Order: sequence, then structure tokens, then C-alpha cells
Amino acid sequence: MFKFKKFLKNYIIKIPRLYYLIQNIKMTVREFFDISSRPNFIGWYGMSLRTLPPWINTSSKSKNKLGQEFLHADRELRELVLKGEFRILQFEQYKNIGLFELLDGLMYRHYIVFWSAIIAANNTNSKLKNYVEVGVADGLCMYFTNKAITQALVDCDYKTYLYDTWGDVELFNQSTTGKESGYNYLDIDVTKKNLNKYKEYTVYKQGLVPDTFNGENEPNEITWISIDLNSAPPTIDTLNYFWDRLEDGGVILFDDYAQPAYVDTKNAIDFWTTQHSNATLMQLPTSQGIILKSHN
Ligand SMILES: C[S@@+](CC[C@H](N)C(=O)[O-])C[C@H]1O[C@@H](n2cnc3c(N)ncnc32)[C@H](O)[C@@H]1O
Repeated sequence: MFKFKKFLKNYIIKIPRLYYLIQNIKMTVREFFDISSRPNFIGWYGMSLRTLPPWINTSSKSKNKLGQEFLHADRELRELVLKGEFRILQFEQYKNIGLFELLDGLMYRHYIVFWSAIIAANNTNSKLKNYVEVGVADGLCMYFTNKAITQALVDCDYKTYLYDTWGDVELFNQSTTGKESGYNYLDIDVTKKNLNKYKEYTVYKQGLVPDTFNGENEPNEITWISIDLNSAPPTIDTLNYFWDRLEDGGVILFDDYAQPAYVDTKNAIDFWTTQHSNATLMQLPTSQGIILKSHN
């Protein structure tokens, strides 16, 4: 008799795409009939969790502190968006999806931004914590970074350095989309307004990376770097330029690391990591990647 389970186990598993397709069909059927099996979180790129995300309390007595602090930051952002005090031009490009729906899908991404900003500060020795983001757009990730520092860290002396063209730029993803232009709708004044509350801590470096890596008004010692360029060559330029200045215990966070459209960037980062023994890279289910710099 044909044993379907055995067949699945022995043969289909050798064809991952087919294996996951069958698993997905099974899961969809189960979720349709069994409410309790439906996910508690659905994020971008199909990330779906049946576990409770960290910002939802599992008990009325004990709360996940970081999860609650993150939730507070997320709620405040939504209020700012509603009042028109935080504009997300990137989301305004999506005509058929609501702003809050987009924010919902990005919550786990933002939770990791929030957590990484805290762990980087706690694991490094500097007195002044320098945070760098290369690829800033409207400042969404930097909103959560600033919130983490000011809300969850006690008396943290810090500065942020933000790099972007905030205007038309060529993106290089040779094996997927090739060379294309993007982001001409961005506006540095919108980003400045969005992050206005943190202006005394913020340095803007507008222009093309790596041209803006020019030594002017740049930090010598860095605690945390977020790289979110969606383009392979400037991602590696950024790693090469800042790696020696990243403190031991510091963090590099990559957005979109595992997204199929940016596979060239992933391959370049993976190769770069093999050349740097004190860089430990982990791929996260959100499609972000994180490098922790070990102490020598
Ligand atoms: C995905 S967006 C960044 C999103 C942002 N981190 C956030 O949290 O919403 C990518 C950004 O990288 C910038 N960018 C891409 N290539 C660049 C380059 N060579 N120099 C400077 N900026 C670049 C684009 O202008 C765009 O704002």
C-alpha cells in the first residue's frame, strides 16, 4: 500500500520547495477548520507565528518588560502618524494597503530594531554611544532606535549619524532586478520633521554612499550600525568603512538580509563575514540579519 507519510518523509523532503508547498497547504486547511491553530502574528514575507509575540502578555502578573516598552513606542508612533506628525512616504507608495496594516506587519522587525539598540549599548564599553544608520528613508527604524535609547536605557549619552541620498539613487541587485533607480519620492525635510524630537542627537549626512564616507563629522567609535540600502555594493562599502570602528560587543543590523530580491546583498555579506573571524552572523525569521562583534 502506498504510504503517503513515508513517501513525504523520504522523498519530498529532498525537494524543499515542494515539501514546504505541501506543508503550507496542510497548514491552511488546518487553520480554516481549527481557530486555535491560526497565527498570532503575521508579518512581511509570509512570517507567521502561532506563539504569542513578546509584546503580548502571557500573564497578568508578570510582564515582558522589553515587549511592553516596545509596544508603548509602537503605539506612540501610531498616534504621531494619525496626527500627521510622522509621515511615511515609503508607505504612501502602497495605494491598496493601509498604513497601520503595514505597521502591523513590521512589528517584529521593529521589535528587533528596538532590542538590538539596547543590547548594543549594554554590551559595549563606551561612555558616548554612537548609532549609525546607512539607508534611512523616512526614519522609521531610527524612530524605534531613538525610543529604545531614551525610553529603555537609563541616562544614556548618545548620538545618531544618518546616511542617505534622500533622493533618486541607483540600486544594484544584479541577479534579480539588475540596476534600477529608486526612492526619488523621499524628502530629507520629512525625515527631519519625523525625528525632530531627537534633533540635538542627530547628524544628517546626505549624499551617495560611499561618497559621504568622507571623515567629516563622523564617529570614531560606534555602538550599533543599521544597514538598509537594498543594494549590494554600498552595503559592503559600509561594512568595510565602519567595521574597525565598531566597538567589541557592538551590533550590525541588516534589514531585508534574507529577502529573495536582495540575494546579491546577502551573498556579499555572507562572503564578507567569512573574512572577519570576530563577526558572528545570524539570519532572523523576519528576514533581518544581525552581526554581533565578539571581543578579541
Ligand atoms: C529600504 S530604504 C531604508 C528604510 C529605512 N531604514 C526605514 O527604516 O524605513 C533604503 C534606503 O537606502 C537609500 N540608499 C540606497 N543606496 C544608497 C546609496 N548608495 N547611498 C545613499 N543612500 C542609498 C535609499 O535612498 C533609501 O532611502
